[in-house]
Amino acid sequence: MKLFLDTANVDQVAEIAAWGVLDGVTTNPSLVAKEGKDFKETVMKMCELVPCVSAQVTATEFEGMKKQAEEYHGWHKHVVVKVPMTIEGLKTLHYCREKKIRTNCTLVFSANQALLAAKAGASIISPFIGRLDDAGQDGMALIAEIMQIWSYYDFDTEVLVASTRHPRHIVEAAELGAHISTIPYEVFKRLPHHPLTDSGLKKFMEDWENVKK
Ligand code: G3P
Repeated sequence: MKLFLDTANVDQVAEIAAWGVLDGVTTNPSLVAKEGKDFKETVMKMCELVPCVSAQVTATEFEGMKKQAEEYHGWHKHVVVKVPMTIEGLKTLHYCREKKIRTNCTLVFSANQALLAAKAGASIISPFIGRLDDAGQDGMALIAEIMQIWSYYDFDTEVLVASTRHPRHIVEAAELGAHISTIPYEVFKRLPHHPLTDSGLKKFMEDWENVKK
């Protein structure tokens, strides 16, 4: 399973990329607004660090989305154009597939939306599991449903588990065979740690002090 960082902070991307485990980054308008930096510059810097950076269109009509998709695609070969799951978005996904522009269909909350986005030609779909949990539904059950559907067909659309909130989400996404998980920085930083690793290493270091050298 590929691991992406869900952030618009370039320093965070550089830090996790240095671990040798980072396959990509997902940004969205809210994350970009939080950082307060220039959008294009941010995306370009990230593209130098990882091979896949999602940059979201902000137009809501097909013509505007298409224009932004072409513009972002021209910035860097690592850009993946993020398109919302709307009817106009479906038209944009289809257009981009014809033009060989990689896309990530965002704001997916149902299996039917996932199916339509894949058929329209999305390279990636992003079901938001945390937001479904927040709404009292079972987000991971949607991933299970999508992965079951995917097992019957030969879609080349990757399933990206988005809106993850804690380390178990990453394990469960992997158990279901999801292709990608995007992870917030605070959650990513918790993944390498285990208290038994820390105490085990401390004991090894203490014992090493008693070895004749
Ligand atoms: O990048 C999209 C998604 O991961 C957003 O997560 O926490 O705002 O629901 P969240």
